[in-house]
Amino acid sequence: MKATLPELPYPYTALEPVIDARTVELHYSKHHQAYVDGYNAALDKLAAARASGDFSSVKHLKRELAFHGSGHALHSIYWRSMTPNPVPLADGRLKSAIEASFGNFETFEREFKTACTIVEASGWGILAVAPDGRLEIYTIEKHQDLVEIGFVPILACDVWEHSYYLSYQNRRADYVEWFFRMIDWTSVATSYEEVAA
Ligand SMILES: [Fe+2]
Repeated sequence: MKATLPELPYPYTALEPVIDARTVELHYSKHHQAYVDGYNAALDKLAAARASGDFSSVKHLKRELAFHGSGHALHSIYWRSMTPNPVPLADGRLKSAIEASFGNFETFEREFKTACTIVEASGWGILAVAPDGRLEIYTIEKHQDLVEIGFVPILACDVWEHSYYLSYQNRRADYVEWFFRMIDWTSVATSYEEVAA
């Protein structure tokens, strides 16, 4: 099935001054759109390869699907991960799972921020749900490397430079700090309920 760009849950200006409107506009309308387009183009090429019976390009096209498809999926989660009106994580299943998986919320917060900050080059820090409901933090390189199959991301912090460079330049840790303060915990808790049902 073809990918489509999801609706942005807020206007381009909504996250200012944490993330400036120009960054959100470029990030959403250019970068995220490019992953959607790249994924769909790879799907078409894969269908053509299969129709022709020439499978020599399949390995390359699968790599394209992994890169662009994961980029699309993570950006979709990224937009939902933030809100202009953040509230603390309420008591409930997600909070209990964070405490069970990391000891307490403060330890989780430190590990998550560290994971986002130390990604080599371009990538993501994510919180993901294991098949048994346990939570794990990953530092993803590019969009698809260093994560385990079977884990479903519910919170994603994009640390490609296109996410923050206009406002933060090389100060990724400052961007990560502000991202964390803008997390939409209500949305993340809903995602956890859906994944860990
Ligand atoms: Fe991005």
